[in-house]
Amino acid sequence: MNIVILTGAGISAESGISTFRDANGLWEHYRIEDVASPNAFRQDPELVHRFYNLRRAQLHVVKPNEAHCALAELETAWLGGFLLITQNVDDLHERAGSKKLVHMHGEIRKLRCQNCGTVSYHEADAGLGTICNMCMKAGKMRPDIVWFGEMPYQMDLCHEALGTADIFIAVGTSGQVYPAASFAAKARTNHRNCKTIEVNPVPTGSQDFSRSIADRATRAVPELVKSLLSQNSPPSSINSSPS
Ligand code: OAD
Repeated sequence: MNIVILTGAGISAESGISTFRDANGLWEHYRIEDVASPNAFRQDPELVHRFYNLRRAQLHVVKPNEAHCALAELETAWLGGFLLITQNVDDLHERAGSKKLVHMHGEIRKLRCQNCGTVSYHEADAGLGTICNMCMKAGKMRPDIVWFGEMPYQMDLCHEALGTADIFIAVGTSGQVYPAASFAAKARTNHRNCKTIEVNPVPTGSQDFSRSIADRATRAVPELVKSLLSQNSPPSSINSSPS
């Protein structure tokens, strides 16, 4: 049995990271077009850097929660295929121990050089004075974030996994941003009778989910993981005859 999990800002909300579209979410305080688009960065790079510097600094004071940890535990114990796709740019999944992980919208702890393309880890604040360690140019480093209008990372891998998923679980995402918003439909129609499950205290109402768990991630995800692990079985093997 192959599992694909998609997470969004809601899984990190109980760790203290604001979501985007809930009341008091980030997009109530900032305009997407001012901080999260290539054009915004061209117009006011320092403002964009400041926005992401705040998010990067916050990583030092937040910790993975029970939902991140339960997904890491599921990955380790699951005997079938597994892929965790996150829209989040924080590092809470990897700090919880997740390894089969795609950061489709990039990572806040990385910068990308617009001159030579080098991607590097960066813990401190970034700005126009930040120098690329590879080409040594200043003024060319941008947050390694996929902005509106840009192509998310590792889409081939995501689509391949969705095409062979038997269970798809979306945790803490509003389903407002494509292509992630189309993943449940892709899994549901992959001809494997894929179960599609949503975990969200405010269910999205999408018809693409066969089950909706209206609860917060730290409560629902550990329970779901427990139930999945009770059905854990190796992939159907070549030699399946009884001994
Ligand atoms: P949103 O802010 O759009 O949605 C967060 C979802 O999490 C909402 O549906 C909430 O109901 C739900 N939620 C809140 N608390 C929760 C909890 N404790 N447990 C479970 N769910 C909870 O965030 P995303 O769907 O992740 O992109 O947003 C998708 C993309 O839009 C982001 O990756 C970002 C943003 O613009 C970029 O910046 C490129």
